[in-house]
Amino acid sequence: MKVLVVGQGGREHALVWKIAQSPKVDAVYAAPGNGGICEEATCVDIPANDLEALRDFAVKEGIDLTVVGPEEPLVRGIVDLFEEAGLTIFGPSKAAAQLEGSKAYAKNFMREMGIPTADFEVFEDPEEAKKYIEKKGAPIVVKADGLAAGKGSIVCKSVDEAKRAVDAIMVDRIFGEAGDRIVVEDFLRGEEASFIVITDGKNVVPLASSQDHKPVYDNDEGPNTGGMGAYSPAPVVTEYIHDKAMNEIVIPTIEGMAERGIPFKGVLYVGLMIEDDKYPRVLEYNVRFGDPEAQPILMRMKSDLVDALLASINGTLDSCEIEYLDDAAVCVVMASGGYPGKYEKGKEIHGLDEVAKMERVKVFHAGTKKVDGKFVTNGGRVLGVTALGKDIKEAVDRAYEAVSKISWEGVHYRKDIAKKALRRLGLI
Ligand code: AMP
Ligand code: GLY
Repeated sequence: MKVLVVGQGGREHALVWKIAQSPKVDAVYAAPGNGGICEEATCVDIPANDLEALRDFAVKEGIDLTVVGPEEPLVRGIVDLFEEAGLTIFGPSKAAAQLEGSKAYAKNFMREMGIPTADFEVFEDPEEAKKYIEKKGAPIVVKADGLAAGKGSIVCKSVDEAKRAVDAIMVDRIFGEAGDRIVVEDFLRGEEASFIVITDGKNVVPLASSQDHKPVYDNDEGPNTGGMGAYSPAPVVTEYIHDKAMNEIVIPTIEGMAERGIPFKGVLYVGLMIEDDKYPRVLEYNVRFGDPEAQPILMRMKSDLVDALLASINGTLDSCEIEYLDDAAVCVVMASGGYPGKYEKGKEIHGLDEVAKMERVKVFHAGTKKVDGKFVTNGGRVLGVTALGKDIKEAVDRAYEAVSKISWEGVHYRKDIAKKALRRLGLI
């Protein structure tokens, strides 16, 4: 089989790495890929959002399976476009991808289905939104309706801050047309987890649990990023929480979409807020693998991912099981100093050869490229240094040992990845 992976981040590197291990796969292509991906796959210089060019390439090259990393091509309808051309592609249709593409759609759907989530209202008029905020009080959360590269949710500590967030999104339009509508919702307390499943529209196979680290600094301080590190499994997702999330959230979501004539196929990623270790509620839906969560999850996966992807497409997930190593995996993201704000690119990355000699460590590339035989930084999140260990403690120690060997000018990473898990397990 020839497989095409669309995207250029650490998640896509992990997908390429895992897919290439399948005995069914003869060749892996990536569009556009990155410095590390292009060492392991044939990179094609087509941006992830140029849907027509991707389709034309897949037709010409005879691609047997396309796997899409990021949300934007999914929300813009890449699956529909490929299927019209007779191509096989993993992921939700444009209509189903609205679960991530429009927060108002997702929240109204959850309300209709009785799926636990924060109470909310949707607004198209900033003054109405501000009146609602005054009535509700703070803390409160203001969210742009559309895609905003993971930055569209503003958690506000005061009413004034929330009103400013409304103006920033709806009047100053900092996220462009994503801010035509907003969702204003109650602030939820608890611990977050990423609950990710593969579905064929009827059957559901949960992936291993994981937890992300969104804020840029230690102790969850500073602005939110795409994710500064992740680990799997996440001890906060106990069997009790797993069953509750499946029964109260995932299964009603899949059934509700099917009832509406919009069967959801592909990856459904439910961002959970778990209160008091008892009550999981939905913060958001994503319609794709998490980044960085995909990195530790795929590193632990023993089964052939391609079998699961094909079973999702063919509607045969009821006969598919995914097995994992008992080991834990931890991914520490190394980023450019200044990210998620402004940062410089083109810094030479040192130490990758040393880390390549380490066992049970894999460095997934995100914003890198190769220039004159050397890897240089080329984005905000640069590397996802991912390690296995017999438990989270061993995995985290090994990941940081690898991180300590890698450097570039201005590098930034969190020093406390997986601390919540270590505390919960009584290991620190
Ligand atoms: P989202 O883009 O909806 O995933 O939100 C990004 C981040 O903002 C989440 O990972 C949470 O940390 C935080 N967040 C979003 N919604 C809420 C909420 N209702 N209550 C508390 N925190 C939230
Ligand atoms: N790590 C968060 C996300 O993929 O949206």
